[in-house]
Amino acid sequence: MNDVTIIVFGATGDLMRRKLLPALYRLVAHDKLKKFLIVGAAIDDVTAEDVLHRSREFIEKIDETVWKKMSDAIVYQQLDFGNEAGFLSFATMINSLEKKHKMSGNRLLYLAAAAEYFCQITTYLATSKLVVRRTEDQTPWQRIVYEKPFGHDLVSAREINACIQKYFDESQIYRIDHFLTKELVSNIALIRFTNCVFEPLWNNRYIDQVQIVIGEEIAIEKRGAYYDKYGALADVIQNHMLELLALIGMEAPEKLSGDYVRSRRADVLKAVQIVDGVLGQFEGYKKEKNVDPNSTTETFAALMFRVDNPRWAGVPFYVKTGKCLQKKETSIHIKFKAVDCLLTYSCPVPSNWLTIEISPEATFALTLNAKKPGYSQEVIPVAMEFCHSCLFGKITPHSYEVVLEEVVRGEQSISVRFDEIEYAWKIIDEIRTKKFPVYEYQCGTTGPEQVVTEFEQKHGMRWRS
Ligand code: BG6
Repeated sequence: MNDVTIIVFGATGDLMRRKLLPALYRLVAHDKLKKFLIVGAAIDDVTAEDVLHRSREFIEKIDETVWKKMSDAIVYQQLDFGNEAGFLSFATMINSLEKKHKMSGNRLLYLAAAAEYFCQITTYLATSKLVVRRTEDQTPWQRIVYEKPFGHDLVSAREINACIQKYFDESQIYRIDHFLTKELVSNIALIRFTNCVFEPLWNNRYIDQVQIVIGEEIAIEKRGAYYDKYGALADVIQNHMLELLALIGMEAPEKLSGDYVRSRRADVLKAVQIVDGVLGQFEGYKKEKNVDPNSTTETFAALMFRVDNPRWAGVPFYVKTGKCLQKKETSIHIKFKAVDCLLTYSCPVPSNWLTIEISPEATFALTLNAKKPGYSQEVIPVAMEFCHSCLFGKITPHSYEVVLEEVVRGEQSISVRFDEIEYAWKIIDEIRTKKFPVYEYQCGTTGPEQVVTEFEQKHGMRWRS
């Protein structure tokens, strides 16, 4: 890895504390980041030491030598994102800092701020010349990373993108969805397209339904102001969940890389149709800090989609997510159709399921039917399970580590293309117009009871998780 100045806008936020600094720490600890500067910027009046210290609890085991490298490299600058003059002096500060440390001027600019600042920051990055439009053989490189959600609806996403296009070249732009770098997520296409036992069955003839679940035990942490504006639909469904759905649903790309995959994912998102939904809000949400006491923002959603193409006609795609639930779980469950019944003792036989567990464990398992031991003819489902950590050890690197590493490397396939983002926002905007009911649920449960009493019953399905 060559030397780099990492500039984070929104450096006092949750993402920096929980994900970016721990990821940078790990890159330094593994010697993947040798010569670097970290420059944090935000409106708050804090010190670089404060910013770094807040991330300490999210780093597993601290090696004080690595920590010292981090604290020697970090700088903090108070900055009002709406103040153009502030950006000019910020740029001057960065230039002299880079000169002092003999950096080559490679810059990774991470917008970890709310999307409403994206256009303004983008504009001032250009007017302050912190970043210039890329030309053919630009050295040093300058790359801008936009954290999700990219906007809050289709219109705002298009506005941000227009700002970007006005000043920068697409090759400098990274729209991040960190789920795409999770080990088991990047495995989905591989499982599908390299195993003869799956791909021929991957269609409406053999697949009965698909379920995608992101459940979280944590509530909204300190992110009330952000979360109340976005809710589960924009926070995780528009990006992580629809990207998972697209990976499951896509046609085979010509190659398993970059734009080939993005184009096939975009085709699926374009074909998604909304059938039904139930939303929820956990009890006590309205009392969270920076949340409107009359808020109707959803912290839970269970939705039913269809993908309108020949491969998936008639196959429901169920998606469920929520905060403050019983357990953390990110998984995909694919139910195959039941076979015709030949054994009179055991009819109907259970369906086969392929379960891809993304976290907390990384596994995939295929549930098959076998004979119950003994003289009976009874069928019993047994799981053939692949446990990633048992074979390869604990999953490393973590997803944001991969994000940062790949951006420094200039690998754009981890970035979501704008057409994918547009299709996903169209879906979310349409869901919003449907005004699905928002039911209250208790923390520590599996969500509103209506998910069972209304949704499950109406659609004759049962959540696998
Ligand atoms: C983020 C959401 O994108 O993903 C958070 O904003 C959510 O609300 C998080 O908690 C889940 O990601 P992970 O990697 O912790 O499972």
